Amino acid sequence: NERSFIMVKPDGVQRGLTGEIIKRFNNRGYKLVACKLVQPSKEFMQKHYADLSSKPFFNGLVEYMSSSGPVCACSRIWENKERVPLYCKYLKARVKTFVNVVKTNPLASAPGTIRGDYCVDLGRNICHGSDAVESAKREIDLWFKPEEVITYSLIEAPMVYE
Ligand code: GTP
Ligand code: MG
Repeated sequence: NERSFIMVKPDGVQRGLTGEIIKRFNNRGYKLVACKLVQPSKEFMQKHYADLSSKPFFNGLVEYMSSSGPVCACSRIWENKERVPLYCKYLKARVKTFVNVVKTNPLASAPGTIRGDYCVDLGRNICHGSDAVESAKREIDLWFKPEEVITYSLIEAPMVYE
């Protein structure tokens, strides 16, 4: 089972799209294992986006993410009979594709994806998804205490997976 970190950004929360976004992952069969509303500090967002610290948009991004309202942090598990490690790549591609079809810019995202359906601007792209299995792990550890990530069986699993 591979975990991914999904976050509804402040623009998504402010626009009332939190439920829509969570619903899309639920509909596809991803299991929600952690979820909370957070008002992150500037320092915290600098940590989250540390790999982008040299980019010209970094300060604006951090400022925006920490001062425009809360974010909704979620962790998902993609369960299937095909297990790690073979499945890692598939999950990575799947989660990323699901959020934005490779492109960060919503205008380049296909209809049917979250960004392609709900937003138009690069700096207001409503949803974050980890871009790799390793970054998902780093982000889950950053955003959640161990006890906030819940282990349970999904009652509908036999109806989703053969
Ligand atoms: P995340 O899921 O949020 O990590 O988006 P991403 O993986 O598609 O893009 P990336 O990690 O490269 O950048 C993180 C965020 O910074 C993006 O989601 C955008 O909101 C913002 N961003 C990226 N590139 C630009 C840019 O060129 N200009 C501006 N203003 N913002 C950008
Ligand atoms: Mg990214």
